[in-house]
Amino acid sequence: MNALLDIAGLAKRFDIGGKRLLHAVDHVSFTIGKGETVGLVGESGCGKSTLVRLINRLLDPSDGSIALTGADLAKIRASGFAGNPNRKRIQMVFQDAGDSLNPRFTAAQAIADPLRRLAGLSGAKLTARVEALADMTGLPRDLLTRFPHQLSGGQKARVGIARAIAVEPELLILDEPTAALDVSVQVVILQLLQTLKRELGMSYLFVSHDLNVVRLLCDRVLVMYLGKIVESGPAAEVFADPKHPYTKALISAIPQAEPEKRLGRLRLSGEPRSPIDPDPRVCRFYGRCPKGEPRCSSDMPVLREAGPAREVACHFA
Ligand SMILES: Nc1ncnc2c1ncn2[C@@H]1O[C@H](COP(=O)(O)OP(=O)(O)OP(=O)(O)O)[C@@H](O)[C@H]1O
Ligand SMILES: [Mg+2]
Repeated sequence: MNALLDIAGLAKRFDIGGKRLLHAVDHVSFTIGKGETVGLVGESGCGKSTLVRLINRLLDPSDGSIALTGADLAKIRASGFAGNPNRKRIQMVFQDAGDSLNPRFTAAQAIADPLRRLAGLSGAKLTARVEALADMTGLPRDLLTRFPHQLSGGQKARVGIARAIAVEPELLILDEPTAALDVSVQVVILQLLQTLKRELGMSYLFVSHDLNVVRLLCDRVLVMYLGKIVESGPAAEVFADPKHPYTKALISAIPQAEPEKRLGRLRLSGEPRSPIDPDPRVCRFYGRCPKGEPRCSSDMPVLREAGPAREVACHFA
């Protein structure tokens, strides 16, 4: 495949004191093709934000490589990435639009900032580009002089998106871009993202709790559980025929418009395992998994092929 992003063996371990390490992202590998939208799903705390922060080079990885057509970004330290020519190739819309905006910057200044730093624009050219971006993202121009606290959640989300697409990145990372918005605003923002993708031809890495949104928006989906990818494949296939017991449970919990179409909900019992110093022999889902057998606690299943373009990490899939 013609990969734009090629992640291999990427890991992040946080030192949490007392010689203990929290394995937030544990040797994750995947690719994103040019123009492809890849969804990343999994429960709270499984490592989604840490993974995208590694890719966006806000965090330094403990292991692994992050290749963006040619350049190995993992070799560039997070602290030095701002001045790197690859900086403008990846941009991110953050989990909380409000918190990620500088409270002392007006909307116009927030959008202008990356254009000034990464594209060297100034003066009339900069103003014209900021206005064009406001138009593209549906932010009324008279709101450009406002500070974040004077904007609604949906308006702040538009500023975050305008800022992220300003330098025309090849990869746009969206970390729960609509989680804090009410449903009607969510729909508008998601439509905007679809339109921008068509017009600009970017690749998206889309993190979401909302599996219905992932199913509609994404070409491919990665399912993460406690720092590991446990299943991946074309979104339509994974949703129609999930293979990993965790994916099955996730999908069985999706709200359905027509209740009679809904499969029986699989409820998980048992305690989730801890991400702190996990035993490398034990499947991360062991203890909660309805299929778990003694083998799963001595032989960690690794991702393996499970049909064309599909992968799953389970002994029983
Ligand atoms: N700086 C840090 N130091 C120590 N542990 C951290 C740090 N950042 C994240 N973690 C831990 O890493 C794990 C993954 O966190 P992360 O924020 O990536 O999860 P997430 O999948 O994005 O969750 P959510 O869906 O709630 O946003 C969690 O156990 C979290 O407590
Ligand atoms: Mg997160």
